[in-house]
Amino acid sequence: MGRIPALISSFLLLLIMATTWAERENKSSSAGLFWSTAKEERDLVHKAGPSDVDDSATAAAAAEDIDGGFSSLEGMLQWAIGHSDAAKLKETAQDVHRLSPSELKQRQMEIKELIEKLKMPSDAQLMQIALDDLNNSSLSLEDRHRALQELLILVEPIDNANDMSKLGGLLVIIRELNHADPDIRKISAWILGKASQNNPFVQKQVLELGALAILMKMVKSSSADEATKAFYAISSLIRNNIAGQQLFYEERGDKMLQDILSNTSMDIRLQRKAVYLVGDLAESQLENIDEAEMPFFSDHSFLKSVVNLTASTDLDLQEKGLVAIKNLLQLRTTEPLVFRDLCGLSDALEKMRQRLQDLMLDEYHKDYAMDVEGLRKEVELIFQEKLGKEVRVPT
Ligand SMILES: *[C@@H]1O[C@H](CO)[C@@H](O)[C@H](O)[C@H]1NC(C)=O
Ligand SMILES: *[C@@H]1O[C@H](CO)[C@@H](O)[C@H](O)[C@H]1NC(C)=O
Ligand SMILES: *[C@@H]1O[C@H](CO)[C@@H](O)[C@H](O)[C@H]1NC(C)=O
Ligand SMILES: *[C@@H]1O[C@H](CO)[C@@H](O)[C@H](O)[C@H]1NC(C)=O
Ligand SMILES: *[C@@H]1O[C@H](CO)[C@@H](O)[C@H](O)[C@H]1NC(C)=O
Repeated sequence: MGRIPALISSFLLLLIMATTWAERENKSSSAGLFWSTAKEERDLVHKAGPSDVDDSATAAAAAEDIDGGFSSLEGMLQWAIGHSDAAKLKETAQDVHRLSPSELKQRQMEIKELIEKLKMPSDAQLMQIALDDLNNSSLSLEDRHRALQELLILVEPIDNANDMSKLGGLLVIIRELNHADPDIRKISAWILGKASQNNPFVQKQVLELGALAILMKMVKSSSADEATKAFYAISSLIRNNIAGQQLFYEERGDKMLQDILSNTSMDIRLQRKAVYLVGDLAESQLENIDEAEMPFFSDHSFLKSVVNLTASTDLDLQEKGLVAIKNLLQLRTTEPLVFRDLCGLSDALEKMRQRLQDLMLDEYHKDYAMDVEGLRKEVELIFQEKLGKEVRVPT
């Protein structure tokens, strides 16, 4: 016993703190406050918790009740700690220490009622707190980091992403893309990517606020992490978004893709993302037949660098390369002879077939190799069909 009951009673104290704080402050003056980290949580529990609570049975029963009743208890706790001060906690801890078991039981019921009345702060409120923090230029780097980490989690549900936009949060995050600290820039790009994913409303706002150009500069960062997250954000911003794609081409996104794909020393994650985006953009052209096809899709050296990827030692990159080729081959403007004569596609497909045969002998990779071989065959068929049409055209 001992250790765990002590933690539980600290837990209760923190809940007392939270409720009294909320009553006093009426939840309106929350600006500048934030969740605390796990580290602080441990420190505080350590500082405030009496290590020798006698009535461990009562405390354990209280914990059980709470466990059953409140799904967001951990959030409640974190929030409570963030808004409490250690001296006060200690004082209250001593008060509670003097309570008899029945008084403790009584207190426990009161807390339960209070928590039920109080309700957890909503995600929108938590986002507002984090955004207010970020909007404060004297915030420490560590706290800025923490506010961004919170937003990274909060922004995941699509409703929250929309709320963040309505709270003016996108502008606050975009401003962070210019921060001197690469980690801050990286998380900010990550948040924008998450918020924009499959969300035309947020995509539009972020594009209008001019984030695309900044993100494209970040892709050139010497930090591969920063470059990768910026690339992720770009992909999220322009996926299934014609206006975004046009802006991307205007910003010379085609050149960016080519630079990444043709550079063998480039970070492999970035190459995977780039070739995936190529496949995606080509697919978008296939789906929007009224849009003029981008000339870069028929640029010979660009196509050659995509075909080159099928020879990569990275299986994932090979496969993504194959998907991109499949989509590129189906474009109206594609010339199959370019793929055959200048890019060596026939040869590349044959070599890939041999490698996949070998891979199928390996029990561990067999299923994967068979899937990719299915895709490879499909590409081969599309290619042959296109070549066949080409040959039948009278000269
Ligand atoms: C809390 O704030 C609301 C308005 O924001 C007000 O109507 C209410 O009276 C306040 N309650 C207390 C206890 O101050
Ligand atoms: C900004 O942050 C500093 C340092 O954390 C704090 O002292 C100050 O009160 C904050 N300002 C506002 C307006 O929240
Ligand atoms: C950030 O602060 C400025 C004033 O300094 C204010 O106009 C703006 O609304 C704030 N943005 C957010 C999201 O709180
Ligand atoms: C290729 O990528 C590496 C790593 O990102 C970079 O240092 C180098 O400058 C790039 N080469 C060219 C020709 O862009
Ligand atoms: C394709 O790969 C070949 C051989 O590895 C290399 O010589 C060539 O420069 C590559 N072409 C492009 C466009 O990446």
